[in-house]
Amino acid sequence: MFGRLGGYLQLIAVAPSHQGQGVGSLLLSHVEQTVGAHSRDLFLLASHFNDAAHRFYARHGYREVGQLPAYVRPDITEHIFWKRLRSP
Ligand SMILES: CC(C)(COP(=O)(O)OP(=O)(O)OC[C@H]1O[C@@H](n2cnc3c(N)ncnc32)[C@H](O)[C@@H]1OP(=O)(O)O)[C@@H](O)C(=O)NCCC(=O)NCCS
Repeated sequence: MFGRLGGYLQLIAVAPSHQGQGVGSLLLSHVEQTVGAHSRDLFLLASHFNDAAHRFYARHGYREVGQLPAYVRPDITEHIFWKRLRSP
């Protein structure tokens, strides 16, 4: 999703058989380039138990900036990740 104040990445997924080969990084890079043409910032959510995704986003320059308890499901906290894609 695009927006003047920020873009939002709803879902990114790579088939388990193809993970760990750089495909996710390529997809994320493409999203950042596309969203960055419209928005300065990119936001996304990752569930509290998804350590691999947290590591993945941190490695790509995302900062965890908050949490949304019981946002999607009552027993799951979503962690909010943010990256500034470019200067204003
Ligand atoms: C998160 C996800 C999209 C990452 O996709 P991916 O294709 O595995 O990502 P990459 O291969 O670019 O990077 C993943 C790891 O592989 C390693 N890697 C990257 N290229 C590599 C290569 N050529 N050879 C070996 N390892 C490599 C990276 O160091 C990275 O390590 P990290 O776990 O410390 O970050 C994928 O794990 C996924 O689909 N998960 C399930 C769905 C999900 O949780 N989506 C996110 C919801 S918010």
